[in-house]
Amino acid sequence: RVKRRQDYRPPQFLVDQVKLKFILDPSDTRVLTQLHVRFNTDAYDCCDRANLYLDGDRDVIQLVPNSLKVDGRMLEQGKDYNFSKAHLIVKSINGSGKGALVEFQVSLNPSKNTALMGLYLSKNNFFTQCEAEGFRRITFFPDRPDVMSIFEVTLVASKQDYPVLLSNGDCVDSGSCSDGDYHYAVYKDPFRKPCYLFALVAGKLVHLEDWFVTMSGRKVKLCIYVQQGNLPKAKFAMECLKQAIKWDEEQYGREYDLDTFNIVAVDDFSMGAMENKSLNIFNSKYVLANPETATDADFEAIQAVVAHEYFHNWTGNRVTLRDWFQLSLKEGLTVFREQEFSADMTNRTVKRISDVMRLRTTQFPQDAGPMAHPVRPESYIEINNFYTVTIYEKGAEVIRMLRNLVGPEGFRKGCDLYFDRYDGMAVTCDDWLAAHQDANPHVDLTPFRLWYSQAGTPQLFASMEYDHSQSILHLHLEQYIPPTPEQPIKEPMLIPIQMGILDRDGTPVMVDIGDGSVMETKVLNMKEAKQTFTFHHVPPESRLSMLRGFSAPVRFSWKHNQSSKDLIFLMAKDKDEFNRWDAAQTVTLRYILDIMKQMNGNSVKPHLSQGMSSLPPDHHVLEAFKTILLDESLEHRFRSTMFVLPSELFIAQWTKPIRPDDIHLARLHLKRQLATGLNSSFWSVFQKLEKELEGEYRLDAESRGKRALKNICLEYLCCSQDPVALSFALRHFRNANNMTDALACLNILSTYGKEEGELALAEFYRKWEHEYLVLDKWFRVQALVPNKNTLSRVQKLLEHKSFDIKNPNNVYALIGGYALQNPYAFHLEDGSGYKFIADQIWKLDNINPQVAARIATCFTIWRELEPNLRSHVKEQLNRLVSNDHLSRDVSEVVNKLME
Ligand code: ARG
Ligand code: ZN
Repeated sequence: RVKRRQDYRPPQFLVDQVKLKFILDPSDTRVLTQLHVRFNTDAYDCCDRANLYLDGDRDVIQLVPNSLKVDGRMLEQGKDYNFSKAHLIVKSINGSGKGALVEFQVSLNPSKNTALMGLYLSKNNFFTQCEAEGFRRITFFPDRPDVMSIFEVTLVASKQDYPVLLSNGDCVDSGSCSDGDYHYAVYKDPFRKPCYLFALVAGKLVHLEDWFVTMSGRKVKLCIYVQQGNLPKAKFAMECLKQAIKWDEEQYGREYDLDTFNIVAVDDFSMGAMENKSLNIFNSKYVLANPETATDADFEAIQAVVAHEYFHNWTGNRVTLRDWFQLSLKEGLTVFREQEFSADMTNRTVKRISDVMRLRTTQFPQDAGPMAHPVRPESYIEINNFYTVTIYEKGAEVIRMLRNLVGPEGFRKGCDLYFDRYDGMAVTCDDWLAAHQDANPHVDLTPFRLWYSQAGTPQLFASMEYDHSQSILHLHLEQYIPPTPEQPIKEPMLIPIQMGILDRDGTPVMVDIGDGSVMETKVLNMKEAKQTFTFHHVPPESRLSMLRGFSAPVRFSWKHNQSSKDLIFLMAKDKDEFNRWDAAQTVTLRYILDIMKQMNGNSVKPHLSQGMSSLPPDHHVLEAFKTILLDESLEHRFRSTMFVLPSELFIAQWTKPIRPDDIHLARLHLKRQLATGLNSSFWSVFQKLEKELEGEYRLDAESRGKRALKNICLEYLCCSQDPVALSFALRHFRNANNMTDALACLNILSTYGKEEGELALAEFYRKWEHEYLVLDKWFRVQALVPNKNTLSRVQKLLEHKSFDIKNPNNVYALIGGYALQNPYAFHLEDGSGYKFIADQIWKLDNINPQVAARIATCFTIWRELEPNLRSHVKEQLNRLVSNDHLSRDVSEVVNKLME
């Protein structure tokens, strides 16, 4: 059952052409399939040439009896063909010469497809999701990305129920069927593609239309399909699409290649979105938005996802994957492209900070635990479990390092060569690196390859020595890569460390970058386990700013902690804004850890933490934060980001064993200290911004920044449960003319308020009862309340009439919000939170295994937990593995957790 990268063999048969005819019906859809197959002359083992293996998930698709023909000849089961559990095996095919024509009919029942893989229904419309291995739930086919075919698709469906019929490529014919209640449409996609990029949509939909003239002057029709009533909410996504198309032309010279580009929004979708050739299918939450129903963060997410899927047209579709071990070849690269696009469209520093926050809170723990895997995994059981933050986000960091290594121009050259050389092919991460190596012969990329094969977050330890007499500074660096599953011993990696030196006043010290010239920033390419770098002419009392812009996905620390004075200095003076933020994070992290030490030392019980006001921070730290808060020369958005304390999941990585309650209370304590210390500044900034934002809602970056800063001020003001601040927040909630403010207040009120929270939640529900996407926010807010009673609230909400366990967004909001994002409420002393989640995983596994497996990752850190909690998790994991009917998805996750 384990698939291994080294076991890759080219396909025995290729499929040059596929003709599919769908006769759509909710419970009995027919798929007439015609495959032009032939031997793959590149295949090196020819032993099984006689048999054509077609993947097919026989729990979902049935071969219609007496429908299988080869070159017009009817085949007989047992004699000419057979089934294995997951295959249709056609015997004695003559695949040489012009090959053979294989024809058959399949029946399937989309209405029963709750896994949302293959062909399924959502609100009575048909949709497909094929990546990674969903096509085998539609018809029998060699379901692997290195089999690329020309598709021709005919859709036949009831005119009245399914007026819109869509598939990949261009519509070449359409009309009424002889039975006048039915109509048909024929689509041809001129580009060869793997079957995971196939898609169809049929249903009652309306669309927004626009166009784009490409750089070579071709006019492309752009359509976004949504349910009736949602058209105005698609406008923003359309603007994003146009921006993305333009950006890809300007930055990468990539042009769109068909006459139409369609996006379709669907409410039931397991992931974010899917890049099917010319027919992107999106989770509706990444398409639909207006200021009343979507937050600023939602708008930004839409911009990012629309661009991401569009960018896949070149990185993923035109150049595709040889096998699923190469997933990061398209995902890491496309995330990187999207990150750069978003940085150009919004605020570069803030985008970088939020990407790094995400990496550190979710990817670092994955890389440190039982689920750790390299960016290019060596093995998997269920590929759906590998759509991870490691493949996506760490994969993007790897691309970022590569770009920095070869420089922006070298990177563009490498990309051009990659597209040129591999267009229309299914390739590997090695091919990607080869293109960059060939385009940049002066850089040796050999040591860089380890980033693809070695799992685990490298740890960097630094120390320095200063020689006063000669003004020489020695920087000693050591790297250590912890063992991960199946990789006990690691080799040192190439770690590019961007750094700079500041003198005692904060003026940059120019450093020799090696070629004789001097710069403010230097990149140290560390290759050895231990290495020393020497700097000359360094004035005394200089400070180092390390890992600027987070130039490598590593955990950096000084062997001897920097003093909080050094950190405050960097926070105020560093030339690299990212590092100003990072210094602030380190200051606050340090305080939180100190508070925890005192809590344990004094065995302070959680509920007594209110009385700890004698603890730090000292006034220098308060002053430093105050300066940032009031510094009008800084962008609002940056200022607000400086006040986001390290998350509980991030803090947990610095504690052992993990005591989630202590982490939560220590963090809250620091937050309250800041709130008290800066109370009047928070008020004045809040009030000033409230005035400035009065009047009509505006979506520009400046206004978004103002809202972010205003709302974080309000949060600090309320976090000590001051009744005046809370009543203020309630009023603000009621007056809000946009979802950003309303949701921020709702969050604050339900977290820190009592009756105010209940009032706001009730009013919010009444107002938005009929807005599916807004209700998702309502579920999530409640799941995120850091309170020991949240479990019972979540349990009640499962029964709520607006909650549907079959809908992944609902599940992620309520169950996922609770288990993955609310440690204080999830880790309950008696283990009841774990039991509840294990029950949900069990139940969900029968509905949508992919979603169930994602929820199960909430136990990733379980071995680091303090003993009582650990034993409770263990009990639940044991219970889960005892279930013989677990899906491959969940059983892979749970078994890895238990290893
Ligand atoms: N390729 C999609 C994207 O990142 C993700 C699809 C994942 N689907 C899945 N079933 N695992 O844009
Ligand atoms: Zn993607």
